[in-house]
Order: sequence, then structure tokens, then C-alpha cells
Amino acid sequence: MEKTRIAVIGGTGFERFFKNAEQLRLGTPYGIAPTVSMGKIGDKEVMFLPRHGPDHSVPPHRINYKANIYALRKAGVERIFAVNAVGAINRDFKPGDIVVPHDFVDFTKLRSTTFYDEAPVTHIDVSKPYCPEIRRQLIDDGKKTGLPVRDKAVLVCTEGPRFETPAEIEMFRRLDFDIVGMTGTTEAVLARELEMCYANVCFVSNMAAGIQEKLTPLEVSEISNRITPRMQQLLIETIKALPVKRKGNCPCAHALRNSRFQ
Ligand code: HPA
Repeated sequence: MEKTRIAVIGGTGFERFFKNAEQLRLGTPYGIAPTVSMGKIGDKEVMFLPRHGPDHSVPPHRINYKANIYALRKAGVERIFAVNAVGAINRDFKPGDIVVPHDFVDFTKLRSTTFYDEAPVTHIDVSKPYCPEIRRQLIDDGKKTGLPVRDKAVLVCTEGPRFETPAEIEMFRRLDFDIVGMTGTTEAVLARELEMCYANVCFVSNMAAGIQEKLTPLEVSEISNRITPRMQQLLIETIKALPVKRKGNCPCAHALRNSRFQ
């Protein structure tokens, strides 16, 4: 029987998921991905990939996003849940909130955000940039497990590694963006290009620059340590509840259909 493989990409403060798990190093044409650990949740095989490396040594602008996403695809993964720390631009959001964004704006500058640098020229549709099916499951399971999940938010992704200036955040606020992070859009696009489902599970670690006095990575990891058990619980419940096979009614599963000129 074909295996069901789901991946969780861990972010800041979420560098481990399974204890004593089998470890894999996966090579790709784009380089080697960080060590992936394998576990089981219910009837599904789950691969965990810490995007900053197991010891948090890779900054967001230097992550080899293409190697990470390609490695998961090659290993048979069809659905990805990605955890991200974010700052809140929307003043209704507060540190500790869990957010499943529905849309994004990409303000990165230096990254390669496509596998299709050459022919055939490929334009994938991102009208629904995060998989609606796995978002829905996350939101429903959040409700069931009593974890309040914010289900509507625009995520803006900045290049980093510095935090934003107050003027940048004020501009983003006027444009109605809700949360800011440094990773959650690049992976989403690359996953869609390989016809994988992808959803972000963000947690607010701080109010964005200019809204609170100053920002420190320590604060991000403190909130992350506090919230990670809840995020893990949400991921476990969601993964258990997912159908064994993805239904394919989302835009992700057939993203390459109609994406080319001929
Ligand atoms: N800005 C960008 N990335 C972040 C932030 C922030 O305020 N907090 C956590 N990740």
C-alpha cells in the first residue's frame, strides 16, 4: 500500500518534534536539506524538517528553501504544515495567538522563489496561496481542541535577518497586512510549484516594530517555548483527522495544469 507522508516544517523554537526518531539526510539538485526525522501520527508517516537546522544555525535569508521543499517532495510528501513565528501588525492580535493566514504579500528581495527558471515557462496560480483543505482542517481542529485559532490574516514576508523598521511596519499596517515573518511565503510558492499542499501555522511572538518598544530574538524564543506544546497538540490532532489520501479538490494537487503556454 502506498504510504501517506505528511511533513511538518519547524521554525524558531520548534526544532524537534519526535523523540528517538529515525533520521534522514536528503540530497537534491539544489543541495542537502537539514536532517529530517521520521515519526508516526495515527495512521500517517510524518517527516519533520527544522528549517533553521537542528541547532538553529541557518538565518531566514540563507535557508535553502528549494532543497528543503524538493527533498520533501522526493520523499513522497504531499501535504506540509509549516510553523512560523511572526510579529503582529494588526493591534487586535496579541503575543501567544495562533494564526492560520489565508493570504500573503512577498517583500523578500534576494531569494529564488521558483523551480522554473528555464523553459517550460511556468506561471502557477496562487489565487488561494495556502491550501484551503488543510487550512480548514487546522481551523476546525483548533476549535475542537479549544485552541483559539485566528483564521483570517494577511502575512507579509520580509527578507530579514533584521527586524523591520517602525516606518516599514506602519506602511504594512496602512496596507492592511496583519502579521509579519521571514519565511512563510517562499516555502508556500515552492510547494505549490511541486503540487504540494501547504499551510502556515503561525504564532505571534511579539508586536511588530514601533508598536512595542524594541524587539529581541530572546522574546521570540520565550514565547515559542511557551506555545510549542499547544502548536504540537494542534498539529497532532489535525494530522490524525486528515483523510489518508488528499482529496485533490484544492488548487495545489493540480497546480501545474494550465500553468504553461502549451
Ligand atoms: N518581524 C519579522 N519576523 C518575525 C517577527 C517580526 O516582528 N517576529 C517573529 N518573526
